[in-house]
Amino acid sequence: MDKKEDLIEKDLKTESLDSETDLRPQKMVYFIGQQNVKNNLSIYIKAALKRNEPMDHILLYGPPGLGKTTLANIIAREMGVNIKMTSGPVIERAGDLAAILTNLKEKDILFIDEIHRLNRAVEEILYPALEDFALDILIGKGPSARSIRIGLSMFTLIGATTRTGLITSPLRSRFGVISRIGYYNEDDLRQIITRSAAILGVEIEEAASNEIAKRSRGTPRIANRLLKRVRDYAQIEGKGIINNEIAFFALKNMGIDDQGLCEIDKRLLLTIMNKFKGGPVGLGTLAASLNEDKETICDVHEPYLLQKGFLTRTPQGRKATEIAYRYFEQSKYKLIGDDNSTLF
Ligand SMILES: Nc1ncnc2c1ncn2[C@@H]1O[C@H](COP(=O)(O)OP(=O)(O)OP(=O)(O)O)[C@@H](O)[C@H]1O
Ligand SMILES: [Mg+2]
Repeated sequence: MDKKEDLIEKDLKTESLDSETDLRPQKMVYFIGQQNVKNNLSIYIKAALKRNEPMDHILLYGPPGLGKTTLANIIAREMGVNIKMTSGPVIERAGDLAAILTNLKEKDILFIDEIHRLNRAVEEILYPALEDFALDILIGKGPSARSIRIGLSMFTLIGATTRTGLITSPLRSRFGVISRIGYYNEDDLRQIITRSAAILGVEIEEAASNEIAKRSRGTPRIANRLLKRVRDYAQIEGKGIINNEIAFFALKNMGIDDQGLCEIDKRLLLTIMNKFKGGPVGLGTLAASLNEDKETICDVHEPYLLQKGFLTRTPQGRKATEIAYRYFEQSKYKLIGDDNSTLF
């Protein structure tokens, strides 16, 4: 049996595509939802502007596709400063980061995505840079080695991570602002979908945006992605307008159910329920059994399943809940074969 296209995973692994940039809100007022985060950040921005100082260092954390990169860009724009974007795994050597830091100008923003993936040597360069705007460079080797200190411009670091637990405490303690970006509610998602549809120039009925919102797992990136695919269906199979009927048909064909669960979510739950008698099962065992990597399970699938109440996490491992059992009793979904393939 063909495995349905896993939109979720593909979505979340795709780095910001050009088409994604078009849908990205450019100002805080256009950024939908996350009211608390927005209010706080707006105050900090105004205060920094009033004092004519750079913004304090900010850590944004939360599951993928919720708007961390978007927010970093908005902050730069509202502060009226340049933003330089990079990511943890890209900065391999301490020298790479030193080069980036020395090129920053007063009040510039350095955005480091996946900051939990910086290696130790690189991270240590960051400590004095964040605290004292200084770079300590070691010259020479052995007993004659000495350290010299170079001053840096006063800049702002915005770090983004899907895993706050993996940020070392010396790094975490150097952020003045730590903001958690959580899943969006359906109402926010509906507004995002309506806004994106207007930008894409496609007509969408309210019932259809509700339907897409419901299945977007609280994630704007998925909402936009589903909207684009439903638009394809509307253009080819329908009359170009996205109504409830075409949305329903398209989403069903994409294998997205009304809880927003994707293939991997379902396989994950069914594996715990069937192969491990409901759990508890450790992450490593689960990942091996599903043939998926641990990081994807942790970053993408588990947070949503935990939030929906399908899964609990205990010190012994993951357990399927009553809600999960009820869900599968009602649906026609089953785990078939040893290859973990699933069946509607
Ligand atoms: N609050 C929002 N309002 C409208 N659109 C949003 C909002 N948040 C995110 N989006 C849309 O979702 C897409 C994904 O957002 P973004 O790339 O900022 O997520 P991210 O948190 O940086 O994800 P990752 O962790 O994968 O890097 C953006 O292109 C943007 O169009
Ligand atoms: Mg991002």
